[in-house]
Amino acid sequence: MQATENILEKIEEFIKQVEAFKSTKLDEIEAFRIQFLGKKGHLADLFAQFKNVDASQKKIFGQKVNQLKNSAQDKVNELKLAIENSSSATEYGDLTKSATPFEVGSRHPISLIKNEIIDIFSRIGYSVSEEREIEDDWHNFTALNLPEEHPARDMQDTFFVQTNPDYMLRTHTSSVQVRYMEANKPPIRTISPGRVFRNEAISSRSHCIFHQVEGLYIDKNVSFADLKQTLLHFAKEMFGEETKIRLRPSYFPFTEPSAEMDVYWGLNSEVDYRMTKGTGWLEILGCGMVDPEVLENCGIDPNEYSGFAFGMGIERMALLKYNIPDIRMYFENDVRFLSQFQSAL
Ligand code: PHE
Repeated sequence: MQATENILEKIEEFIKQVEAFKSTKLDEIEAFRIQFLGKKGHLADLFAQFKNVDASQKKIFGQKVNQLKNSAQDKVNELKLAIENSSSATEYGDLTKSATPFEVGSRHPISLIKNEIIDIFSRIGYSVSEEREIEDDWHNFTALNLPEEHPARDMQDTFFVQTNPDYMLRTHTSSVQVRYMEANKPPIRTISPGRVFRNEAISSRSHCIFHQVEGLYIDKNVSFADLKQTLLHFAKEMFGEETKIRLRPSYFPFTEPSAEMDVYWGLNSEVDYRMTKGTGWLEILGCGMVDPEVLENCGIDPNEYSGFAFGMGIERMALLKYNIPDIRMYFENDVRFLSQFQSAL
């Protein structure tokens, strides 16, 4: 009898303890749960003692133990819920916090201009062709009417492969056009963007690595007028509807006749004066009618077909479009420079 009285008192005390318990820490709550509801906790202990309880007291004992069990269980649930609701700090961290910001990259100005040029020519039916950067003598020079000892080879200071001078880093992407003509029958409309290499001293105006886009159009009855109209269209798309162009006679071994194209830049400031050497005109590309000899070298009958070709430097286009005064800036990968060129991907 006495023993049972004591146990009932003990249970009352436990109930008070449970009611008084407070915590906002998950590990403390878990310790509390184990203490009362765990396999070796107070409740397990009390249930084990049930059989010893005096028969007349069994009912009240059962009720008290159940009350303790429920209040301990409710307490644990209530405290856990309070933690979930009060803060969002969970084991995964604070889920309501905004994500760590990260920088979205931007395209390199060379890629932007390249994509723009490709876009303009794609809209008038040109495909894009790309090829190797290490070329053989035939594709970089000989097929283009530049046989060995031809003085015009000096115009393109070449990096040769040391162990085999029949191979070199291509000096222009005209080599891509030779390969394209060898592999495809006319009509041909293709542009060849790519990296080219020349053994030149590095300065603000020239570099040993730069980028070109060259174009080739071959079909029946293609004339110089077609060339001029195509380039005028390109210049207007690139620099605006008001753009004026002019063609000056020039020389390339693979085209006859050959020309250089200028766009009118204006003469409004001292910088314009310097950039255009006082003429107001800026040279942007070389072009001409493909020499019949070159067509023949590439397996195309010059009596049936004619065509034009043109080539431009992407760095120079970017200079005009973005006003970048020093060609070396393209290669320095300075994020402050590069991040200025944002685009819609
Ligand atoms: N291949 C010439 C160069 O690299 C450019 C060019 C291409 C000129 C096609 C005329 C025709 O300078």
